[in-house]
Amino acid sequence: MIFIRKLNQNEIQDFQKFEQQCVKQPFCVAEFIEVYGYTVYIAEVDGEWAGYLVVHELDFGVWDIIHIIVLKQYRLNRIATKLMEFFQSETYIRTISLEVDETNEKARCFYEKNGFNIVAMRKNYYEKRNGVLMNKQMKYILAIETSCDETAAAVVRSDFQVLSNIIHTQKIHEQYGGVVPEVASREHVEKLPVVIEQAMKDAGLEYNQLDYIAVTYGPGLAGSLMIGVEAAKTLGWQLNIPVIPINHMAGHIYANKTVQAFQFPLLAVTISGGHTEIVEMLEDENFSIISQTHDDAIGEVYDKVARILGLGYPGGPKIAALAEKGQLEHEFPIATVKEDPYGMSFSGLKTAVMNYVHNKEQKNEPINIENIAYSFQHAVIQTLDEKLKLCLHNKTYKHILLSGGVSANTAIQAHLREIAEKNGMEFSVPEKLLCTDNAAMIGLAACTKLAGNMGDISDNMGKIHIKPGLVLQ
Ligand code: KG4
Ligand code: ZN
Repeated sequence: MIFIRKLNQNEIQDFQKFEQQCVKQPFCVAEFIEVYGYTVYIAEVDGEWAGYLVVHELDFGVWDIIHIIVLKQYRLNRIATKLMEFFQSETYIRTISLEVDETNEKARCFYEKNGFNIVAMRKNYYEKRNGVLMNKQMKYILAIETSCDETAAAVVRSDFQVLSNIIHTQKIHEQYGGVVPEVASREHVEKLPVVIEQAMKDAGLEYNQLDYIAVTYGPGLAGSLMIGVEAAKTLGWQLNIPVIPINHMAGHIYANKTVQAFQFPLLAVTISGGHTEIVEMLEDENFSIISQTHDDAIGEVYDKVARILGLGYPGGPKIAALAEKGQLEHEFPIATVKEDPYGMSFSGLKTAVMNYVHNKEQKNEPINIENIAYSFQHAVIQTLDEKLKLCLHNKTYKHILLSGGVSANTAIQAHLREIAEKNGMEFSVPEKLLCTDNAAMIGLAACTKLAGNMGDISDNMGKIHIKPGLVLQ
């Protein structure tokens, strides 16, 4: 077990001894810790000290890496990476810089992998050898999401760290059995300022520490999108920082950035209340939809079937919970789409469930709601299974990413994970909170744009308009 922590004040003597054990010429940071406030992180493996990281804050948010050392016998355990990750995860950082011996190829690679860039050379810095000065800049993004019935804001850092993620789910729609656009817009107006304030507070940031605003500009409900986009533009204008418009569906996909690095080429299965598509990605920001629904989205059918079964809105989680206790009672039909072998169709499935229930009611037969939920979910999974197998039949992919509100469904997750494993592919799905609509995913998609310097970062707020029918491309 590897455990990383800060060195305690009463451990300075021990640390000095440990330093002597690690390096020929100890740096003797004891004095630096006490006098200049250097910070030391210790890595422990099964209780034994295995390595350390010494950092120094030169100015607010400006950090210098003094030393990162791992004892020989513990190398290959990714301890250096873990020390760096721990330090970066708990610290406010604008810039981190360090010097590394030009001839130390391994160290340079390690820092490059950790997002550092070479900024300068220092001649003869290490006696006769040159020093390479490397640094890493962090940007802070406030992300806003109001495309449907979640009012959400998050703060995300450019190294894909989610610093805060506030989601207000509008419960008011439950009484209507579905989202009422006008009501959703009004609630966004009321709740968005509160949600933004809380996201900033949780991240521990002041508004003037932000570098960008990211906002969903489509697809979604026009009135709802407008509230988020106008708020983003107003804040961007007031703070004099750029606004990055983000496609909601790209956001869902990039929620997977919190899980693992993307392995291209990949297939992203995005299933939500408004969309159902299998998207091929050859690289970041490169989307081509291979398979999609020709009528209802999967989440929409879950919600409609839930209404048929009298379960209320949103129906997805309710049906999923019932299905866990049920078994296959009826094989509902799996639709095919004429002229589009990759196409999906779910409206027939909804009708089939409705007819099945009505039939039973007319005959006064008992209705086992758990079995119906299971049988319906089985048909959904089989549809995804067929289409994914078709995609995999023609081409090799390295990774399946599951995303969108319906990806919170554990049965669907398990089935897709199995397909990935059978085909030697990676599989990832975000944690539940990042599956359904949230703003962190919008911030993560914005980080990808920043990392790749990929357009769309507007210096002219006037250019950003809502696009309710936006598609991934
Ligand atoms: O992505 P999302 O939050 O909003 C849209 O962009 O549409 O997706 C919401 C959809 C709803 O239809 C909801 O019923 C469904 O996701 N959902 C689920 C589950 N959790 C949410 N569907 C099936 N199983 C779940 N566990
Ligand atoms: Zn969504």
